[in-house]
Amino acid sequence: MKKVLSLAASLLVCATVGAAAQSYPSKPVTIIVPFAAGGPTDALARAVSERLRQSLGQPVIIENVTGAAGSIGVTRAARAAPDGYTISMGHLGTHVINGAIYSLPFDLINDLEPVALLGSNPMLIVSKNAVPAQDLKELIAWLRANQAKATIGTAGVGSGAHFSGLYFQSLIGTKIPYVAYRGTGPALQDLVAGQIDLIVDQASNSLPQAQAGRIRAYAVTDTKRLAAAPNIPTVDEAGLAGFHVAVWSALWVPKGTAKDIIARLNAAVVEALADPAVRKRLGDVGVDIPAREQMAPEALRKLQKVEADKWWPMIKAANVKPE
Ligand code: MLT
Repeated sequence: MKKVLSLAASLLVCATVGAAAQSYPSKPVTIIVPFAAGGPTDALARAVSERLRQSLGQPVIIENVTGAAGSIGVTRAARAAPDGYTISMGHLGTHVINGAIYSLPFDLINDLEPVALLGSNPMLIVSKNAVPAQDLKELIAWLRANQAKATIGTAGVGSGAHFSGLYFQSLIGTKIPYVAYRGTGPALQDLVAGQIDLIVDQASNSLPQAQAGRIRAYAVTDTKRLAAAPNIPTVDEAGLAGFHVAVWSALWVPKGTAKDIIARLNAAVVEALADPAVRKRLGDVGVDIPAREQMAPEALRKLQKVEADKWWPMIKAANVKPE
């Protein structure tokens, strides 16, 4: 009798989960963005979420939960119910690098289920206009000569702007202090206002301000120039060969979320990134959209593991500690 009851109970649970998955989504879905509004991660989430609404047939809400280079927001998402209604937005920093810096109350790689890769963003080396340098070589000379007074903006220890800044400084041999913001959105505002001197920032964030002449862009950290900005040289052309770094962004859901809900979300992301208007909007600010096969959840998990194997030893060797 007991066996029959427990079989009935598990069948009931399966039926309920199955039914929930089939009717998914039946209410608004929330994407937790772990950085401030107006920054590159927020902008990418909003560009995709506007199109996701159509595919999912439900509102997609963006909730900015900031702090500790994104780990506060990611923790919130990792602890949410695995029902597909809370999605974790993040990137190489929040979902890989932070695992080597912060003692997180969950397993960054295994307690979040990958949904889809969204895009990759090379970095731009940008300064306030008042910095007396017209090209990358002059900028590096100025930074070396002004280490005591220069400042570099980041979105916290472990953020894209921080690990790119660390890498940049390790190549030019400087120890310039970092100023942490809740995102590179607010950091960029202070760069435009001349409050800080430099950011190694995601191109999608800084390019519009550079093209408007409010800040100066010196080079893109890639082997090829941005299609959206053919006037900005690569680091190889500008004199810092090999300084190649990009921030890829993606979506995850809490561990235990039903496979068919993940498949539904993944299909909606694929549709959104195939939309010409979304592709143009992202392309215009230098975001590279992945190939179809790279959007598969398994491909994202593989990428996360490859990047963890690459970056964790470096971050640990550099003894990078949270502020
Ligand atoms: C942001 O959206 O503010 C960025 O992704 C921060 C960063 O990691 O540089």
